[in-house]
Amino acid sequence: MKTTCIMIAAALTCLTSLSATDISLPAPDKKGGKPLMQALTERRTNRNFTKTPISRQDLSNILYAAYGINRPEADKHTIPTAINMKNLVLYVTSADGTYRYDAKANKLIRHSRKDLRQFAFMRKSMPLSSPLSLIYVADLSKGKDRASILTYSHAHAGSAYQNVYLYCASRGLATVICGGFRKDVMEKELGLDTKKFAVLYTQIIGFPKK
Ligand SMILES: Cc1cc2nc3c(=O)[nH]c(=O)nc-3n(C[C@H](O)[C@H](O)[C@H](O)COP(=O)(O)O)c2cc1C
Repeated sequence: MKTTCIMIAAALTCLTSLSATDISLPAPDKKGGKPLMQALTERRTNRNFTKTPISRQDLSNILYAAYGINRPEADKHTIPTAINMKNLVLYVTSADGTYRYDAKANKLIRHSRKDLRQFAFMRKSMPLSSPLSLIYVADLSKGKDRASILTYSHAHAGSAYQNVYLYCASRGLATVICGGFRKDVMEKELGLDTKKFAVLYTQIIGFPKK
């Protein structure tokens, strides 16, 4: 009985048990972790994942690292953005569907029931070997000059994925940022108007294979 209760509790806190509705994330854990210099030294790409689920606490911490709000009084984020345009849109996709991160509310907003992990890399086996992928999207409607907004947007995504790399190094997670993924399919599956939005990168995250 005790074991059953523990198993149910564990399932409820894992991403693989995401529900069909929006999800309030636990507050990010802003204490602890490895010292910055150690995390920098351990940062690396690792493409060998296990399917071990990522807890909601880890997911909240990952999203905070990527694009959380660290100064609520000014509505500002863990990454800098050119002319404070704050135009990064971040999705999480897993076996349970796809969610948009609402940084202000610290929530996952249900986008669709589709699992888009298979499009997060050119070969679908790699992203399907991990529990989740992040999808970095630029909102290009925040300015008039598409080319410069796009350039800035790649810089914003770069700041965010490096923060995630550092969190992963600190937490012992494996990750790879991908510029090579099924961009057209991803944009279509997300239902994006490509005049206004562009998918820039995906980032696959999971526990490392020993
Ligand atoms: C913008 C960008 C795009 C990348 N795209 C891919 C990719 O599509 N597939 C992949 O396996 N690795 C990709 N990588 C990861 C690089 O291969 C990796 O960072 C590089 O080999 C250096 O290894 P390190 O991250 O361990 O230092 C990308 C890295 C960057 C910065």
